[in-house]
Amino acid sequence: MSEPNIALKQIHKHFGDRQVLNNLDFTIGHAELVALLGPSGCGKSTTLKILAGLESPDAGRVEVGGKDITNLATRKRNMGIVFQAYSLFPHMTALDNIAYGLKIRKVKGATRRKRAEDLLELVGLGSHGDKFPAQLSGGQQQRVALARALSLEPEVLLLDEPLSALDAQVRGQLRDEIRRLQLSQGISTLLVTHDQEEALVMADRVGVMNEGKIVQISSPEELYQQPQSAFVSQFVGVTNRIPGQMRRGGIEILGRVCSVVNSDEVDSNKGIGMALVRPEDLDVCPATDGDMKVMGKQLRGTFSALHVASTRTPGTIRIDMPTRRAQNIAVGEFVDVHLSRSEVVVDAIRPEELRELDALASTKNTGLSGYNKAGV
Ligand SMILES: Nc1ncnc2c1ncn2[C@@H]1O[C@H](COP(=O)(O)OP(=O)(O)O)[C@@H](O)[C@H]1O
Ligand SMILES: [Mg+2]
Repeated sequence: MSEPNIALKQIHKHFGDRQVLNNLDFTIGHAELVALLGPSGCGKSTTLKILAGLESPDAGRVEVGGKDITNLATRKRNMGIVFQAYSLFPHMTALDNIAYGLKIRKVKGATRRKRAEDLLELVGLGSHGDKFPAQLSGGQQQRVALARALSLEPEVLLLDEPLSALDAQVRGQLRDEIRRLQLSQGISTLLVTHDQEEALVMADRVGVMNEGKIVQISSPEELYQQPQSAFVSQFVGVTNRIPGQMRRGGIEILGRVCSVVNSDEVDSNKGIGMALVRPEDLDVCPATDGDMKVMGKQLRGTFSALHVASTRTPGTIRIDMPTRRAQNIAVGEFVDVHLSRSEVVVDAIRPEELRELDALASTKNTGLSGYNKAGV
């Protein structure tokens, strides 16, 4: 990537005695869409507001195009913003909502109208210009909000949960359209969302936030395939928690020793850790012993999810495979489960998981050492 267009550098922010942003640092490239993804309250909107100039940081710098804009007023920042919903002026038509910013900037009537009409066309609402917000659906209102945000040809587009209030179908459509528009206009964009699918589908890069920090920022593929921490692995995508014996820099699960990606995050000297494994990284074959049993099978479309119970793992393990292959596996069958990766992320075992594991071990009369020897 070339020189970043936008940089947030070592941003700190408190509200009262609560630290909301803790040394937050990231960049957005020219024409790049970066999504901030994280649980509610982790500081996403505060970050967006600091970029917009609607909040000021306690410490740190905001730069656009290499210029320090940390103390620049919002109206001088040339950024378009779309919030969650219902941010249109209710007493103005769609067209007037879009033209509002142009009017403030004293753009002449005829030019203003033409530009607003073009924008309305661009967001697919050409024939709705005279309608008031209350006469438009939620999705249509957000299209108008998007057109309004683009009206001043902003240098930066800021989207704060713009699709959260919409139903699933409209959300999917609008998500694709926003991305197409953003690409065609070549505009640097920050999208804030708690919806992982939205972030993965729309963004060039996704920054996962937790407690006021970005814990990982990378392409959607890398984030999904190579999470660097237990938090990211569990926040993005589905993960099994499979117990294993920790060994120096490794963990033994399902009969093999895997290296541990986040070995500095977990206590790797002793004891049991929970390997975090995606359902599609597991496979089954006919059993060599009677330890693992298929308890259920769910058709999900092109793939199916098998739920396998083991005498050595609390709960069941989910394994995803193409439906065509899953047809050959029956509920009640005994199987062996294999892992197709040599590296895993590990999380600390929770007290309730340890209790379940102990209970399993005592009913099987194997104990944890038996569990270790079996290497499952
Ligand atoms: N103006 C404010 N005054 C006091 N606390 C705030 C203010 N804005 C946000 N917070 C608090 O800061 C934290 C982060 O908020 P926010 O950035 O909105 O999170 P997110 O968008 O990730 O859900 C939350 O605990 C929230 O309650
Ligand atoms: Mg928010």
